[in-house]
Amino acid sequence: MPAINWYPGHMAKTRRMLVENLKMIDVVVELVDARAPLASRNPDFDDLFAGRARVVLLNKSDLADPQATKRWIAYFNRLGFQAAGVSATGGAAKKTATALIERAARPKVEAMKQKGVNKVVRCMMVGIPNVGKSTLINRIAGVSRAEVGDRPGVTRGKQWVKITPYLELMDTPGMLWPKLEDQRLAEHLAFLGSIKDEIMDAEALATDLLDYLRQVKPQALTERYKKITADTPKAELLEAVYKSRGFLLKGGAFDTERAARIVLDEFRAGKIARITLERPEEDA
Ligand code: G4P
Repeated sequence: MPAINWYPGHMAKTRRMLVENLKMIDVVVELVDARAPLASRNPDFDDLFAGRARVVLLNKSDLADPQATKRWIAYFNRLGFQAAGVSATGGAAKKTATALIERAARPKVEAMKQKGVNKVVRCMMVGIPNVGKSTLINRIAGVSRAEVGDRPGVTRGKQWVKITPYLELMDTPGMLWPKLEDQRLAEHLAFLGSIKDEIMDAEALATDLLDYLRQVKPQALTERYKKITADTPKAELLEAVYKSRGFLLKGGAFDTERAARIVLDEFRAGKIARITLERPEEDA
């Protein structure tokens, strides 16, 4: 993931590029992470998208709790968006995304048809870093392409990917920056690896994650790391992970960083359980 330095200059430039690109767009396809749809959205951009047909794709739904994803879809439907869970890394993503985009564009297409025009609908993916925009664009484009640059400041010629004879996708995703003011939501992004780990204290983050998982998925956690029990003190959770793997303590000490890495990597890869960190009703 490219470095995120959201200093005001970047924000202004990113926003300007987004506004410029939006002029050509009929349907805005917003990607969020199905495991944390609140944390991975930036509602500040809602005003920019006003008046356009909207689709919300809950991506990485292969890693999320399927029941929670259903509730999130209903939530976004209530807000007036077409919505679905997808996995950009899976085979069905293109079909699902195409169907939703076409449905969202239908009123405009029909209106144009009345005037005798066969409208070509143009859409763009938008989202914060790491939600899977490039992966989905590549999946839809159907060929393995060079990485789609979404670094702020990287300008490239715009190209359109033809999805159907009447539907085109901008090959450059629209970048939204994450809102990090809410500590709890920022922590969710950190759990998911959407905030650079270098600026985080990995041991503290992994410990908080283990403590959280012990509350919401105690069984799955103990199955994965056998030495963790309900009684393990929080300060000893990482050590329990380490011992669960059968690693030897050297002189009574263990490698905290290695233990933290194991927990974060395995959680992010969905190896502990399919987990959604947020529920719609938390969105006050
Ligand atoms: P971005 O453009 O929005 O910044 O996101 P990008 O496509 O780069 O995807 C970020 C990471 O998320 C990638 O993993 C990608 O493979 C993964 N990903 C995207 N969509 C899905 C999905 O639906 N399910 C799962 N499980 N993973 C998904 P990475 O570790 O950064 O790269 P790589 O190891 O895949 O090369």
